[in-house]
Amino acid sequence: MALDRKTPNDLNAFWMPFTANRQFKKNPRMFVGAKDMHYTTADGRQVLDGTAGLWCCNAGHCRPKITEAIQKQAAEMDYAPAFQMGHPAAFELANRLVEIAPDGMEHVFYTNSGSESVETALKLAIAYHRARGDGARTRLIGRERGYHGVNFGGISVGGIVTNRKVFGPLVPGVDHMPHTHLPAQNAFTKGQPEHGAHLADELERIVALHGAETIAAVIVEPMAGSTGVLLPPKGYLQKLREITRKHGILLIFDEVITGFGRLGSAFAGQHYGVTPDIMTTAKGLTNGVIPMGAVMTTAAVHDAFMTGPEHMIELFHGYTYSGNPIASAAGIATLETYREEGLFERAAELAPYWQEALHSLRGTRNVIDIRNEGLIGAVELESIPGEPTKRAFSAFLKAYEKGILIRTTGDIIAMSPPLIISKAEIDQLIGTLKDVLDTLE
Ligand SMILES: Cc1ncc(COP(=O)(O)O)c(C=O)c1O
Repeated sequence: MALDRKTPNDLNAFWMPFTANRQFKKNPRMFVGAKDMHYTTADGRQVLDGTAGLWCCNAGHCRPKITEAIQKQAAEMDYAPAFQMGHPAAFELANRLVEIAPDGMEHVFYTNSGSESVETALKLAIAYHRARGDGARTRLIGRERGYHGVNFGGISVGGIVTNRKVFGPLVPGVDHMPHTHLPAQNAFTKGQPEHGAHLADELERIVALHGAETIAAVIVEPMAGSTGVLLPPKGYLQKLREITRKHGILLIFDEVITGFGRLGSAFAGQHYGVTPDIMTTAKGLTNGVIPMGAVMTTAAVHDAFMTGPEHMIELFHGYTYSGNPIASAAGIATLETYREEGLFERAAELAPYWQEALHSLRGTRNVIDIRNEGLIGAVELESIPGEPTKRAFSAFLKAYEKGILIRTTGDIIAMSPPLIISKAEIDQLIGTLKDVLDTLE
């Protein structure tokens, strides 16, 4: 019997991730189709995608080149062992990633998600120091409000309290820098805020507290997305780079959201002019179509492992699906789509229009801050006293009814549309959001 995919008869078994399960199952919101800028709902409505899925479908939906590449690879060779065997597409994709990455990023280690990229990067950092005879460097420094996925390393260096507090003692030897949100000085700043570079100096305090010789790495999102779009103040990332370099600490940029054109350059490293030692990616790598992540490193990091007898495995780490052929084919086709359509440049060109559209919401009821960079934007709402998250969640539900998909975290509305969005669609997204906000409690 054919499966009716449009109307599931029981919603109970599937425990949905990061979802209000009971609320959803009373009143489900189902997508059954997607094309370019739009989703189709089970009841046949078109919903404008204001979030590129989950910050990942940067080229829009069901792009033919990517679909065809997946179909072809699935028919040709579905799977090849990831350990001690290779296949051409994984090497090809790695070479293409190196081509578009910040200068100095020369090697690629594949994973299946952003969370796995983060775990890989943290493990690489600790093992790198040990490989160089500096094995006391095991501490990891993250940042308040940071999001680095949901695995134990990631939530330990991460700083989103709800994602950490019910999961026990987490990974030991972790400390956190302060976040960079300074609403009193920076509210309604267009682009990068002026104030806050000094917050990077907090790393010096942490170094003095623990001793540089115990610290392996600092991990930050160059622009913090999931916590509600917090931008790096001007000069902040440069300072982090200087301090980490001075103390022999590796700098990891978590580019899972900022990678692949979101800020108008291939990566945030180029956008902000700061190159880390290790960089994590996922999401836009395959346009969100197939799970895949990639960690990129400098030659110095990679080469530290390339010692010992040649028949020995150099790094005891990897996943069954690292560099999976179908994911690799999707990655290559995705990078080709970005390049052929000039999507990173398009994001940069559209950014000023996006900025002005977004900031036109200033003065709308309950809006207490607006932040933007590239094709990313956040509108922060005043919380209903005693009921945090409720106002933004109501906005999300109303927006969906009115045909736009937005995302909320706390009382912050975040948007990150596919880079193919048109000016008219930006107007529709922001105009509809204004209507929604005007009618909220
Ligand atoms: C900066 C950052 N790191 C890691 C992740 C985790 O990625 P995934 O959900 O693919 O595990 C995310 C997801 O939003 C992210 O924004």
